[in-house]
Amino acid sequence: MRKPVVLITGANGEMGHGLIRYFGAQTDTQIVAVDLNPIEPVLGDYCIAGIVGDILDTNLLQRLVSEYEIHAIYHLAALLSTRSEYTPDIAHKVNVNGTLNLLQLAHEQSRWHGNPVKFLFPSSIACYGVPSLDAKEKVGKVRETDFNCPTTMYGCNKLYCEQLGRYYTFHYRQLAAERAPSGVDFRAIRFPGLISAETVPGGGTSDYAPEMIHAAAQGKPYKCFVLEHARIPFMAMPDGIKALIKLAEAPAEQLTQRVYNIGAFSPSAAQLRDRVLKAFPNSKIAFEPEIARAAIVDTWPADVDDSPARRDWGWEPEYDFERTFKEYLLPAITKRYRA
Ligand code: SER
Repeated sequence: MRKPVVLITGANGEMGHGLIRYFGAQTDTQIVAVDLNPIEPVLGDYCIAGIVGDILDTNLLQRLVSEYEIHAIYHLAALLSTRSEYTPDIAHKVNVNGTLNLLQLAHEQSRWHGNPVKFLFPSSIACYGVPSLDAKEKVGKVRETDFNCPTTMYGCNKLYCEQLGRYYTFHYRQLAAERAPSGVDFRAIRFPGLISAETVPGGGTSDYAPEMIHAAAQGKPYKCFVLEHARIPFMAMPDGIKALIKLAEAPAEQLTQRVYNIGAFSPSAAQLRDRVLKAFPNSKIAFEPEIARAAIVDTWPADVDDSPARRDWGWEPEYDFERTFKEYLLPAITKRYRA
């Protein structure tokens, strides 16, 4: 008998940490974790298997299904937006081909065990491409269907994968003589920049917020690569994890769309600096923008309209800007770097 499991790709990443710890606390969820690097020991204890491998390796995926019966996939593996600009071809392979491999795996698994396979996909505010700062100020909260004109490879990849997920869920092989649903139940969240107390991200363009906070907590100077005015939505990691779980648990008939914005707070980089300075008055934070990188942030919306998520599956953030600092980041980060 193969074991029923939840598959998590990109397990060692920021979201992987939060998600695996969440599931680890639930005794009835068996996790198989995949990452390019050995699964970190703090996570390994929560998983029934930690597999080192590449999601582009179809042999690896086939070996997986010979041992496990997959009922849900949290496909977190991706190259983030800054890194993707340096190697757009590799980004496309990992972000698009990797996702396609996993959608196909979900389909095959569903056909095998006869139940839908939930496919949870972290999409991103990078899907948006607001044409100018002026437009950004004027539009305020953007809806999922607005400004779907990303300027980054990562944004293009995420936007296209959202479409692939919708295709597998509703239109898979629509011309087949004996048409049958793919069995893939795709659900995506367009995440804002995420801030975790446990991990620092790598290769993202919203990284200036977590980098600034973690640097200050360690007493290290920080040069911020965007300008003071830069503003995009951010969220505390526990809210990000909660959102993924809530969307996964929502009954399919309640979902009026398959891709949802979620928001929490939208500080400017200057407001972030001020809050960090309040917590760590001796920290040295300077603004030394990397113009091209800062320009990417300027194409991302200042805020998102998340009313469909609120209406369809009860989304509501628990952490606003102040609570994120006071009750989540500061206690955990201070402890982390004191140790
Ligand atoms: N945090 C991501 C990045 O900066 C955006 O989703 O690439």
